[in-house]
Amino acid sequence: MQSKYTDERLREIIASMSVREKAAQMTQLNANIIATDENGDITGPALSMHLTKEDVLAVGSTLNYRGADIMIRMQKEHMAGDPNKIPLAGMMDVIHGCRTIYPVPLALGCTFEPELVEKLCAMAAKEATAYGIQATFAVASFATAYGIQATFAPMADLARDARWGRVVETTGEDPYMNSLYAAAATRGFQGDDLSDETKVAACLKHFASYGAAEAGRDYNTVDMSERTAREFYWKAYKAAVDAGVAMAMTSFNVYDGIPLTANKHLTQDVLRKEWGFDGVIISDYNAFGEMTTHGYEQDGARIADRAFEAGEDIEMMSLNYLDNMEKLVKSGKISESELDEYVFRILKLKRDLGLFDNPLRGMSAEREKSQCLTDENRALAREAAEKSAVLIKNEQILPLKAGKIALIGPFADTGEIIGTWHCYGEAADTVTVKAAMEKTGLDFAYAAGCDWKLKSDDVSGFEEAVAVARRADVVVMCVGEHQDYSGESKSRGDICIPPVQKKLIEEIKKVNENIVLCIFCGRPLTLTDVLPLCKAAAVVWQPGTEGGSAIVNLLTGKANFSGKLSMTFPCHVAQCPIYYNHMSTGRPKPSEDFDGSYVSMYVDIPNAPLFPYGYGLSYSQFEIGKVRLSSDKLERGGKITASVSVANTSKTDGYATIQLYIHDLFASRVRTVKELKAYKKVYIKAGESIDVCMDIDENMLKFWDENMKYLAENGEFDVYVGEDSSTENSARFTLA
Ligand code: GLC
Repeated sequence: MQSKYTDERLREIIASMSVREKAAQMTQLNANIIATDENGDITGPALSMHLTKEDVLAVGSTLNYRGADIMIRMQKEHMAGDPNKIPLAGMMDVIHGCRTIYPVPLALGCTFEPELVEKLCAMAAKEATAYGIQATFAVASFATAYGIQATFAPMADLARDARWGRVVETTGEDPYMNSLYAAAATRGFQGDDLSDETKVAACLKHFASYGAAEAGRDYNTVDMSERTAREFYWKAYKAAVDAGVAMAMTSFNVYDGIPLTANKHLTQDVLRKEWGFDGVIISDYNAFGEMTTHGYEQDGARIADRAFEAGEDIEMMSLNYLDNMEKLVKSGKISESELDEYVFRILKLKRDLGLFDNPLRGMSAEREKSQCLTDENRALAREAAEKSAVLIKNEQILPLKAGKIALIGPFADTGEIIGTWHCYGEAADTVTVKAAMEKTGLDFAYAAGCDWKLKSDDVSGFEEAVAVARRADVVVMCVGEHQDYSGESKSRGDICIPPVQKKLIEEIKKVNENIVLCIFCGRPLTLTDVLPLCKAAAVVWQPGTEGGSAIVNLLTGKANFSGKLSMTFPCHVAQCPIYYNHMSTGRPKPSEDFDGSYVSMYVDIPNAPLFPYGYGLSYSQFEIGKVRLSSDKLERGGKITASVSVANTSKTDGYATIQLYIHDLFASRVRTVKELKAYKKVYIKAGESIDVCMDIDENMLKFWDENMKYLAENGEFDVYVGEDSSTENSARFTLA
């Protein structure tokens, strides 16, 4: 849609704004701070931040809005009170769904279907812009509505340490897959016209390297070479930029000893100049203020100046710009013409969203009903949950056969399986496993057995659960980690299943060996001691609003497993961080049964993970043939093709996800032992066989060489093709 607010018109508005109004436009505050009361007066939170009513009316954007009344007051006051009539922008963490919650991103990373992620994000955007509030403001009979115009997603951080709570929000440990997902999410949220009222602005986060927090402890120090950053941690950010992401959020951590909020090398030299990002940069929550706790800067004006130098357009939840911009401009530290460029980026985003032309942008009670939590949305969420689940063990006990089922465990009858960032998703809307079993008409009896708390030692429910299990043919146990134990500031020092749940499994096993574990989690858990207690196990993550339906469809065989682990599952927490794309070291452990010394190993636990990246079983059985190359020489600018035969030797149709990894044997900087460079997810009917072919070209071989140039060096390469990152099915070629 062509807006009548041209760039020139926006610049006219900017020219009419005072410096303070410009600083307010660059400030984002929680809705409850800038809302006004029924009389249009500012409320306690604003007063506690020494804001005036003019400040409140001039603030440019809000986040985390809650509830009709706040938004209506704010909208009414803002549009009426702002002399420049600049519409407010509503921003929100729509991370994996708005009303219809789909699986957490780490689960989506197991689908190997970026195209599915794009559809899911488009659905989330449609709900977010529709899911608002249509109400009449009693006093002034002021009818308005309010939606969300921007989401703080995709979270494109790389995850390698399962102790870090925010691995749940990433799509995993592989930079190639993370790049595909980040670009797909950006396209899904934004579409190709931001003024489309069913689309939102996307925001890549958290720039940069936030996932490398030492010891897996959230907000902890990050320190790495720029080579490691570029090879692994930054690729998905760049992919989001290349996909046209409208915003970028800087992270809480330092990089090279500088808080990202002030790290102009990364934000100006890399993000803006090298990558060409021309969107809006926003800080994370009070990250300006945290320059002080980092020990970097304590003076408010200096904080504002350093953040400004780093290109921060919007300050989230602190007031350094608002309190100091007039001083900085007056002193000449900041030129007003440069300040205008920052404000222009914000107004341009609002204009591109269509907010100037229609501040209510697509809100309507009719759309809310017709586009939120619909059967269609539920069906898409269910498909995603089915494709995200990963079958990690199955001793011919799944799919469930006819007979009596005991459904046991703290996650069988709860809607709290929608993950940590569930936006406006309600647990009450979740189809639980128990409800899905009832709906499917399965013959089952249920007992919780215990609660989900990490430190619970309450075994009072065991007796009932054991009794139910004794009378059943098979026991489905819904165990694992509650959604509250992953997410922001939820790092864990131990990543086991809560001990009381393990005890319950042991007690059940005494009366019934036929145990199927459904493992709910927001991170890889150490399953080493519970896996031997069951005959089958599936990682179902935090599967979302349709989680129960998806799980029962999978257990009964109505759906087939196809998920492939997006993160390595350690066998012991001490192995963290553990990931497949590691370097060899000068003394690699020759094999897991090696019993010598003087190699890179532990004396008390294995090096190998419990399950490798890309692992996942299916009801189908696939046989992969030896990898064949169209040539063992790759010419510069040319390509060769790697092919394998894939036979479905089972009686069940299913998806096979064939992965292609490359190892650069010798290079001017040590390369990893394997890197995923391509994959094909193919549906193969029972008994049928197909050839899967994937091209290899020079781009796949590029890396940051000794001179920090991104290029491919001549030499020998091994290509591996298989069903997960542990495959040894390889062939060698040279790049000449
Ligand atoms: C939080 C998170 C960030 C989120 C922001 C707004 O602290 O770090 O991911 O988008 O605040 O809620």
